[in-house]
Amino acid sequence: MSTPPLPAVPSPGALTQDELKTLVGRAALDYVVRGQWVGVGTGSTVNKFIDALVSVRHEIPGAVSSSVASTERLRALGIAVRDANEVERLAVYIDGADEIDGKGYMVKGGGAALTREKIVAAQSDRFVCIADASKQVSVLGKFPLPVEVIPMASARIMRQFAALGGRAAMRMAGDKPLVTDNGQLLLDVQGLSISDPLAFEAEISQWPGVVTVGVFAFQRAHICLLGTDAGVQTLRFD
Ligand code: A5P
Repeated sequence: MSTPPLPAVPSPGALTQDELKTLVGRAALDYVVRGQWVGVGTGSTVNKFIDALVSVRHEIPGAVSSSVASTERLRALGIAVRDANEVERLAVYIDGADEIDGKGYMVKGGGAALTREKIVAAQSDRFVCIADASKQVSVLGKFPLPVEVIPMASARIMRQFAALGGRAAMRMAGDKPLVTDNGQLLLDVQGLSISDPLAFEAEISQWPGVVTVGVFAFQRAHICLLGTDAGVQTLRFD
């Protein structure tokens, strides 16, 4: 398979959200450690990264992916994908976010892949977040918080969020509850203001029936490549 040309790099100015995603997806190539497996997240921004990754695919053995969707896209472009269990450590994990604050704490899971994203992030030395500027917040909680749950616990977990002042809704796929890549359900919780992401993640993670809460504080970003009209801003949190 010959290497397709990279998508054109948009020049800074008044850029669309899609162009900002292309910009940061391309910029993330600088963080891919040549000769090593790369951790790949999920979502529309990561799709831009995957498209750019094709240009260096002969310089890396391949990727560890966080979702069925990303795996299919990687393989379709000729990039090998290995199971997370087969690679002990990854030098870098590259993924998007639904929100990111000034410390690199994030809300993730808008694409329903939060559990595998947290797993791959946990075996990576560095998390590079790629996001357009609309994802930057001072306090997490504006975006509905995704929480993957075991089906038989979903009603109780919704009540527990209500007791915290949140409004949890089952994520749907048409007229049926969405089923994640792991065969579980997903709640989206509105109305939370997460001022202490580490404490919040620790607390919710131990509720029985919670598979993964979409706050990434323990697996926070070390670097964020933020797409702005002035170009890519590099925010460092380490
Ligand atoms: C996937 O489950 C998410 O965590 C994504 O990383 C997040 O929703 C960002 O997606 P976009 O790049 O599509 O905005």
